[in-house]
Amino acid sequence: MAIREIKKYPEPVLKKKTAPVTAFDEHLQSLIDDMVETMYAAPGVGLAAPQVGISKRLAVIDISSREEQYPLIVLINPSILKSEGEIEFEEGCLSIPEYTAKVTRAEQVVVGCTDREGKEVEIEAGGLLAIAIQHEIDHLDGLLFIDRISPIKREFFKKRYKKIARAEK
Ligand code: NI
Repeated sequence: MAIREIKKYPEPVLKKKTAPVTAFDEHLQSLIDDMVETMYAAPGVGLAAPQVGISKRLAVIDISSREEQYPLIVLINPSILKSEGEIEFEEGCLSIPEYTAKVTRAEQVVVGCTDREGKEVEIEAGGLLAIAIQHEIDHLDGLLFIDRISPIKREFFKKRYKKIARAEK
């Protein structure tokens, strides 16, 4: 296992729609293991493949540091089958350090995906887990949480980001 470099905004790979996972081979298993290790080391509660530079429909989630009853989840080729309700939560992202903003998402979701062996599964989730799943699926569609905040807030974020980027040069 190895810790991989986390790609940060505005890396182009973060804006790309990912390709489905088709081969459940050793290569995929070691990518998943690396992503899990990278997520724990960060530390974070979720990590999508584009965040380590791989444009594939794969993400890992572990919210047990906040809600301990939930195990590690590997989402492969996920799609949202059902969503209900509304919940607002202050989100952050390992690819956008030192910035958080309130995002509104569905409060309950049912997701169809496969596990790491390629077996089809359905996951029903609410609250924080539902938020994490939607955040990660967004990554797989080339969306970041800043794409879901108001245009005014997003402009503010971009200005602040440019200032920081200039200061680092
Ligand atoms: Ni993220």
